[in-house]
Amino acid sequence: MNERIVVLDFGGQYNQLIARRVREAGVYSELLPRTASKERILGGCLSGIILTGGPDSVYEDNAMSCPDWVFKLGVPVLGICYGMQYIAKINGGEIKAADVSEYGRTPTTYADHPLFEGMDKRTVWMNHNDSVTKLPEGFVAIASTENCKIAAFANDSEKLYGIQFHAEVEHTEDSKRIFSNFLKNICGLKCDWSPASIADSMIREIREKVGDGKVLAALSGGVDSSVAAVLTHKAIGDRLICIFVDHGLLRLNEAAEVMEFYKDSVGLNIIKVDARERFLSKLAGASDPEKKRKIIGEEFIRVFEEESNKLSGYDYLLQGTIYPDVIESGAGGSAVIKSHHNVGGLPKDISFKGIIEPLRSLFKDEVRELGESLGMPSHLVWRQPFPGPGLAIRVIGDITEEKLDILRKTDYILRREIKNAGLERALWQYFTVFTGIKSVGVMGDRRTYDYAIGVRAVTSSDAMSVDWAEIPFSVLKRISDCIIAEVDHVNRVVYDITSKPPGTVEWE
Ligand code: XMP
Repeated sequence: MNERIVVLDFGGQYNQLIARRVREAGVYSELLPRTASKERILGGCLSGIILTGGPDSVYEDNAMSCPDWVFKLGVPVLGICYGMQYIAKINGGEIKAADVSEYGRTPTTYADHPLFEGMDKRTVWMNHNDSVTKLPEGFVAIASTENCKIAAFANDSEKLYGIQFHAEVEHTEDSKRIFSNFLKNICGLKCDWSPASIADSMIREIREKVGDGKVLAALSGGVDSSVAAVLTHKAIGDRLICIFVDHGLLRLNEAAEVMEFYKDSVGLNIIKVDARERFLSKLAGASDPEKKRKIIGEEFIRVFEEESNKLSGYDYLLQGTIYPDVIESGAGGSAVIKSHHNVGGLPKDISFKGIIEPLRSLFKDEVRELGESLGMPSHLVWRQPFPGPGLAIRVIGDITEEKLDILRKTDYILRREIKNAGLERALWQYFTVFTGIKSVGVMGDRRTYDYAIGVRAVTSSDAMSVDWAEIPFSVLKRISDCIIAEVDHVNRVVYDITSKPPGTVEWE
């Protein structure tokens, strides 16, 4: 890698987006805590630094800071919102609570500056209470709004830049252009990085690391573990063996589809473990969501241990960890809302020489792009995310075969109708929920007393925040009609119109 941007995290809510925007503009980028060591920031290569927004006010005691040497590494620094105010403060500028806070879409005027080259559209996304009110020496204002006279500044000789608005948010018009201007015009970069461009070097790295050793993987059929497996298979062929656990909580036909594609089409070496009965008997009677997750997580580890003990000579464990799983936040830990069970969360006490996580620097959409460049079919690469505990957290309360059966059939119909309506790619996830509620209905002139099924469909780019999807009423109507006509013991369908926050994607 010969171009790399480090984004230093000051705790703002859009910080991951900054790293994504830089990557979309063609430069590999990492989000690091503002306290990261010099070695980490320098990495193998450093082409520029971006300081993020954050919740603090720079003039408060103990406001977030970063070491002074960050500004002496000889690369351009761009501050966004708090990052801009921080640059102003340490260079002797003045920052005050603004007379009028700006929030939302705000018309802006740009000066003629390389950072804004070709920026014809001029509405930006503002979200600030403080503003820079006096420029530090050597800086000039290069953008302004009605209420913020210094909406961006530059010190070209020191290569220090700041924008008060959030260019990383799509509501800022031409937002991508600002990043590519910073990268090309200010940092002087070529911008030729893409997930596909690094496939060969990833394969080479795996080959070098594994040598003539062997690798064991847990394959869930989800995008991350699948792309990691296909990549590793390209590197070491049959010396990769995958364990696929059918825990009985998969969607209709899913186990067969996974086996058919990965074993038959790709030629992966897969052991399928039929653990359906085992999981269901352990789950019998459990209705608390956290308890169900725990049972599944532990049982998964037991099954994996047993299977791997039957094999011998495996040096490395392959995991589909992706970048959002490893990002350390600069603003400290957050509350555990749900204890996610990942297929990646495998036993620590199995002895391997090491772990291979080829995707740990990529975002989900980049993993998909990489998968496509490896020749994986788009219906697999674009599969919606599916949680480790599977349908167990979509049956509210205790789990039985009957409930799972109803859930599978309704979920299948939903997926079929979403596909028929051409909405698959527009949605982040869509699934049905077995609510457990029974209600009265009328069918064929008779009273019914049957289950209500919930339909959940959301849009998102990372599942951290989601919006409920505005599916056309005609499609919702068809989904509801088909579910009630085709699935016994369902007489009502409800659509979940809760975003996240305050809801979560899954009901449990
Ligand atoms: P929530 O429900 O927390 O879900 O808003 C966010 C995203 O994570 C998925 N999810 C899980 N994935 N193990 C997983 O691997 C889990 O235990 C788990 N719980 C939720 C969920 O489907 C959504 O994509």
